[in-house]
Amino acid sequence: MKTSPAPKRQILVTSALPYANGSIHLGHMLEYIQSDIWVRLQKLRLNHCYHICGTDAHGTPIMIRAQKENVDPEEWVKRINKEEIEDISAFDVAFDNFYTTHSPENQAFANEIYLKLQAKGDIVIKTIEQSYDPIQNMFLPDRFVKGECPKCGAKDQYGDSCEACGATYNPTELKNAVSTLTGATPILKQTDHAFFKLENYTEKLKNWTVGGHLQSQISNKLGEWFEAGLKSWDITRDAPYFGFPIPGLVDKYFYVWLDAPIGYMASFKHFCDKNNVDFNAYWHKDSTTELYHFIGKDIVYFHALFWPAMLMGADFRTPTAIFAHGFLSVDGQKMSKSRGTFITARQYLNHLNPDYLRYYFAAKLGSGVDDIDLNFQDFIQRVNSDLVNKFVNIGSRLGAILSKQFESKLSANLDKPELYDHFVKQSEEIGNSFEQREYHKAIREIMALADLANQYVDQEKPWALIKNPETHAKAQAVCTLGLNLFKILATYLKPVVPSLIIKIEQFFNQGEFTWENLADPILGKTLNPFTSLLTRIDQKQVDLIMQEAQSNPELNTTETTTDNAAAPAGSNIEPIAEIINIDDFGKIDLRVAKIVKAEAVPEAEKLLKLTLDIGEGRHRQVFAGIKSAYQPEALEGKFTVMVANLAPRKMRFGLSEGMVLAAKNPNESGLYILEPHDGAKPGMRVQ
Ligand code: MSP
Ligand code: ZN
Repeated sequence: MKTSPAPKRQILVTSALPYANGSIHLGHMLEYIQSDIWVRLQKLRLNHCYHICGTDAHGTPIMIRAQKENVDPEEWVKRINKEEIEDISAFDVAFDNFYTTHSPENQAFANEIYLKLQAKGDIVIKTIEQSYDPIQNMFLPDRFVKGECPKCGAKDQYGDSCEACGATYNPTELKNAVSTLTGATPILKQTDHAFFKLENYTEKLKNWTVGGHLQSQISNKLGEWFEAGLKSWDITRDAPYFGFPIPGLVDKYFYVWLDAPIGYMASFKHFCDKNNVDFNAYWHKDSTTELYHFIGKDIVYFHALFWPAMLMGADFRTPTAIFAHGFLSVDGQKMSKSRGTFITARQYLNHLNPDYLRYYFAAKLGSGVDDIDLNFQDFIQRVNSDLVNKFVNIGSRLGAILSKQFESKLSANLDKPELYDHFVKQSEEIGNSFEQREYHKAIREIMALADLANQYVDQEKPWALIKNPETHAKAQAVCTLGLNLFKILATYLKPVVPSLIIKIEQFFNQGEFTWENLADPILGKTLNPFTSLLTRIDQKQVDLIMQEAQSNPELNTTETTTDNAAAPAGSNIEPIAEIINIDDFGKIDLRVAKIVKAEAVPEAEKLLKLTLDIGEGRHRQVFAGIKSAYQPEALEGKFTVMVANLAPRKMRFGLSEGMVLAAKNPNESGLYILEPHDGAKPGMRVQ
């Protein structure tokens, strides 16, 4: 019996906007895969669901990064935006719009919200004292001041908190503080900043945070913050800054976190304008649609306090719920470049199909904020045994028999309707598990059904039945039921491994699988010839990913927070880097190298391929970004200096086995390779 379909929900989902200062990595992908699975489930059940994201364009690190790359921040953000779209969509994450916070829509909303808050008396201008670098002539974000912890005396601590004892403090409290930009002693300087009076919203926020919009761990955490008392939030940054100017103030910009969540609205507005969708239906104060934000646990404060308060103050609707997730670690370690556990989306995609990772994340994700470990041994084992051996194998075994023995034609009836019904009935529980974001539970339920399907096939042994003319028809019936069970499992797995399921839909050749057609078996039809669906992961592919992660990709996310900042805009001199000791330096093996061959790499705008002689018949191949400055022939025979112990890095054109040293200023085009004095010989250590 068919029940009338439930009224369709109207849902808007957002994922946190990745910063524009580095590449998308597997930590980001944990979030985007989590939200994408949820959105795909909604779409599979024929709800209206939009998924919005975009590049978080503003802030000091992005400004600095653009300077280093010698481009305007606008241009830089465009490039990163393009790269982010490519990486994320290659993982089959299907955003309806991926925009940028540096957009006219976002500026308009940021101004509107700010002015509304101001009109309500929620904005106050305060004169504050901030650490200032007298050499760089700029205010220093907390993380740009280092010194001794005021509580425990630990050396070399950042200006906001101590890694040794966990104390938090102001940079002005550090002893023997220095600017990490220049080593200068910061001075205190006054500046006027606009603050948002978050405390005005204490009561409203208290009600909101216990109103079922948050996970319990999160509302407990917020409880602690309420106890400590809400304070005004500094939403201002002084020039130089890449952001939107604050209306009515001079040389003051909105702090990146003010306009970042507004970017959700702006991205959606941009989408609505292009697609004729009613923006107000989703953001108006009295909207009855659903709004969900998927975020990492590190940015809860911004999403569960500042953001709803801003929305309340500016008379927009507040989120239906915020779904926070934990952090991804790799082989038990925090993702870190120095440990080689920092894996970019691209490095993964260079060697493996996204469905494997999507499956693995789904098998581990729950609705809480627990951290998740990508353990590569477990990953290989789990994907191969569940996805390939259990699930895909049902289709492969039966599909092959059906193609060969029955010209791909299914029987007209189901062998065991009760088994089929059992599979269909599980849709409620599996659907709920997905809806509740208990993906690991859904996967367990689906795999339990896959076990049942395999048991059925093993008992019936269609490969034996086909040998006897009397049981030949039975073999076809077994294949028919088995493949129909496979189709149900494929429908359940469709949000998780979409590419794989498209192949299975093509094999069945009966249109798309949806929740609505779960109960309709496919009978009497001729399927397409069976082709291979998915192979097992080979350890070698994982080894290659790990090898790539050991080397530094060109665009890498710095392991820093938003406020990690540096030289003023327009500066031509790179600030002196963090102080290191002699042991740190000793780790770098610098060698004199003779350039024996230099060739242009036609596909790469900036690269020359160099063959270097580093003595005793040892040769190294290095790709160097010096094409703009040198004709290849002019380099042959010259001596230079190379980093000989840099982890090799696989590039599109071949392996790069080191790096040659060259001098350059950030905002100038000149580039000069280093050359030792006459007499230096290939292979000599530079020290
Ligand atoms: N730009 C801000 C978000 C603004 S949203 C209005 C930001 N960007 S981010 O690039 O640092 O992170 C984007 C999302 O990825 C965040 O939800 C963050 O929690 C998540 N992750 C970043 N690294 C992560 C892991 N290692 N593991 C899981 N999620 C992680 O924050
Ligand atoms: Zn301390």
